[in-house]
Amino acid sequence: MITAKSLVKKFGDFTAVDGLNLQINQGECFGLLGPNGAGKSTFISMTYGTVQRTSGELTVFGYDPKTHSREIKKRMGVVTQENALDESLTVFENMMIYCAFIGIPKAERQKRVEELLDYMNLMHKKDMPIMALSGGMKRRLVFVRALLGKPELLILDEPTTGLDPAVRHLLWGKVKELHSQGTTIVLTTHYMHEAEVLCNRLVIMNKGIVAGHGSPKELINQHTPGYVGIFSDDDRAHVNQITSNDSSYILTEDTSGVYVRTNSLEALTTLHTKNNLTPLQIRPSNLEDVFLKLTGQDITVDA
Ligand SMILES: Nc1ncnc2c1ncn2[C@@H]1O[C@H](COP(=O)(O)OP(=O)(O)O)[C@@H](O)[C@H]1O
Ligand SMILES: [Mg+2]
Repeated sequence: MITAKSLVKKFGDFTAVDGLNLQINQGECFGLLGPNGAGKSTFISMTYGTVQRTSGELTVFGYDPKTHSREIKKRMGVVTQENALDESLTVFENMMIYCAFIGIPKAERQKRVEELLDYMNLMHKKDMPIMALSGGMKRRLVFVRALLGKPELLILDEPTTGLDPAVRHLLWGKVKELHSQGTTIVLTTHYMHEAEVLCNRLVIMNKGIVAGHGSPKELINQHTPGYVGIFSDDDRAHVNQITSNDSSYILTEDTSGVYVRTNSLEALTTLHTKNNLTPLQIRPSNLEDVFLKLTGQDITVDA
């Protein structure tokens, strides 16, 4: 559905997307992960022609967004990173204007808007001005707007950033439902757990390039297999000392503690029981570990 080959976007001297290669197939829920500034939104904007690529190839539904953005937009819904709602108008007015903008026949507009407001649990806010809505309600409304045109391809640019867990889980449920009904989903996020929950395949982007790709499981197995034991700062010197001569332990340290990685749970258990250490946590590796390894940065810094 989307193919990018050696895709580059420069803003002046600055390269935001630096030779991106990816293929997103029909029916996937595809994740684009990366810290702020990785180039995720720039890529998304190129897919519907708002930002023009500098070089390389890009097709969406087989069309070039440079020349066929209208055809593409007709079949695609976008939850943009910024809400871009008209704050002075009501929920209903905002959606009706958008219906007109995307060419939904007049007679169908009200029904379509009401159906989707209902779907996103917003019907009771229909006649409220946007400025009276909470952040989570605005985000749900942007979902409504993205779905008005019954898109085959739904693009979600950081759909849940800054939302509380209840709204996040509600939106995840809707995304899963839409995906199971056949909608192709492309999601950008810097929440690793969100990607693990929703995406069957993903790329990790950093500074405009793809640093890793695969299913969450493949990425974990390839880059950070095994288990992680997290020890407190107080144990830093001790942990350092007992692992320094054993290459089966990989040590990384950051402000939140000392991370010891090994392939087996047993090795970790032996490490802490033999040495009288109490780990803060022992868990299987997850995408966050992959992310830290590939991007060399702690996502919480940028989140
Ligand atoms: N219109 C623009 N002009 C100049 N620089 C831009 C523009 N849009 C984005 N950038 C820069 O490109 C980089 C990638 O931005 P963006 O695609 O928004 O990243 P992400 O969505 O992954 O956070 C950032 O450093 C950003 O400042
Ligand atoms: Mg962005």
